[in-house]
Amino acid sequence: MEINNKRVILTGAAGGMGRILAAELKKKGAILALVDANADALHQVASELEGSHPVAGDLSSAEGCRIACDECREVLGGVDLLINLAGINSFAAYEDEHPDKIELMMRVNLLAPMWLARAILPSMQAQNAGRIVNVGSIFGSIGFAYFTTYSTTKFGLRGFSEALRRELADTNIKVTYIAPRAVKTPMNSDAVMKMGEATKMNMDAPEDVVRKIIAAINNDRKDIYFGFPEALFVRINVMFPRLVDKALAAQNRIARKFAKQQ
Ligand SMILES: NC(=O)c1ccc[n+]([C@@H]2O[C@H](COP(=O)([O-])OP(=O)(O)OC[C@H]3O[C@@H](n4cnc5c(N)ncnc54)[C@H](OP(=O)(O)O)[C@@H]3O)[C@@H](O)[C@H]2O)c1
Repeated sequence: MEINNKRVILTGAAGGMGRILAAELKKKGAILALVDANADALHQVASELEGSHPVAGDLSSAEGCRIACDECREVLGGVDLLINLAGINSFAAYEDEHPDKIELMMRVNLLAPMWLARAILPSMQAQNAGRIVNVGSIFGSIGFAYFTTYSTTKFGLRGFSEALRRELADTNIKVTYIAPRAVKTPMNSDAVMKMGEATKMNMDAPEDVVRKIIAAINNDRKDIYFGFPEALFVRINVMFPRLVDKALAAQNRIARKFAKQQ
């Protein structure tokens, strides 16, 4: 998809990746509606990108998504590209995960992209053109210890992306699923960063991830999985999951120490 002059909704636009992605989309000529719960940070991002529209809103409820979507549609006059980037994570032993946090993560990471896609699909179908980009994670293909809830939400998002892409195969509406590995952004707490160091976890710069997201949109990619060996592990996990169980066992023991220390 050529980004120039496309009307784009970007969620999570004030976050570590979001603000960089918003700036790159703007450079490519997109007309932007930027959505985020962090109103102050969002207005700061939008003020640096002339002509972009900040839409402050909480996407953790169907009603919040509807309100944000209506406002985006109004300021843009239609939608060509929806990028579901907003997300939250949690690094914890599952027994320590608060039930409210489990529900919130399901809402923000999985249900919000589903609600937003549902809200914009009819107008994309009317124009028979559009793209929905869902930002998942490598953890959406490899269930990761101490990110159990987060992994669950991203597995769901990957399944949603695949099913919807197949459902829309005979139309001009495309679905792209993006699976980054760890990225250096504020999403990752000190404990995650320390665990990452201790386990030699690969971490990408957000600028590199954003470049690949833009390339995936330009090149009409159905999905992309980031990094070596992570992308290879995704395939091995499908065919030989017991091998991956074994390969991750030592790392999981180290991760437990950091997760329990929080
Ligand atoms: N960073 C990584 O290691 C990594 C790796 C793979 C995939 N990803 C995925 O990449 C995406 C972006 O991550 P990031 O690293 O840029 O995270 P980030 O820096 O934490 O940014 C996420 C943004 O989403 C916003 N948000 C959270 N809950 C919201 C809600 N209910 N309604 C509206 N906005 C909300 C946050 O606002 P607040 O600041 O107010 O919470 C924040 O501005 C996420 O989907 C994440 O799962 C990240």
